[in-house]
Amino acid sequence: MNICRIKAEINVKLSDAKKDYYRKLAKEEGYRSRSAYKLEQMNNSYRIFRPSDRVVDLGCAPGGWLQVASKEIGHHGKLIGIDLQEVKPIEGAIILHDNIEDYMIVDRILALLNCKADVVLSDVAPNISGIWELDHAKQILLARRAFYVGAKVLRRGGIALLKVFEGELLNEFKMELKHNFERVLLSKPEASRQKSSEIYLVCLKFKGQN
Ligand SMILES: C[S@@+](CC[C@H](N)C(=O)[O-])C[C@H]1O[C@@H](n2cnc3c(N)ncnc32)[C@H](O)[C@@H]1O
Repeated sequence: MNICRIKAEINVKLSDAKKDYYRKLAKEEGYRSRSAYKLEQMNNSYRIFRPSDRVVDLGCAPGGWLQVASKEIGHHGKLIGIDLQEVKPIEGAIILHDNIEDYMIVDRILALLNCKADVVLSDVAPNISGIWELDHAKQILLARRAFYVGAKVLRRGGIALLKVFEGELLNEFKMELKHNFERVLLSKPEASRQKSSEIYLVCLKFKGQN
């Protein structure tokens, strides 16, 4: 067996071990998904949440990110989650069983928020086909839609966190975001498996209107 193949197999084993580790931890700590740790780690690095923030979570099922956000913003914050799938209730969160591509979604969010959001999260993901280029393109389309919704509901100075898959369309999307935020960073939290092409765009200080 050649050295590259051995290295690739070791990486797959490490990646699977990491997945198992976070899945077990999530079960022990009462999180609904291991994704919760990705958000926790990015929050530790970029201080995304502050107490009393208004947060919108696009693609929130089963609710791991909602659990983390709810803990961070506390009882005086406001939290809205949206997903195509049903989500079991989470204390302190309003959950909309809805499609982020629905043309009424912005109005629905704004009506519930009363004013604009401090943070917009998007972990939305398409059904994976296994065809790398296709999944990348579908994910970028969804992330663009999340950004479209986010830009309408986010306050000036607010933060957006958007999941994408690495690939050739990423740079163009990142450049577009750079026109709209003062800083745009790429983040691969430790809890995200190396073999997965998912990566997060951390967009700081939205330049839009209040
Ligand atoms: C990776 S999961 C989110 C996990 C979540 N952050 C957590 O911690 O539990 C991605 C979600 O995006 C949702 N999704 C995909 N397309 C969507 C759309 N157009 N509108 C709303 N939700 C969508 C899926 O139903 C799925 O639940």
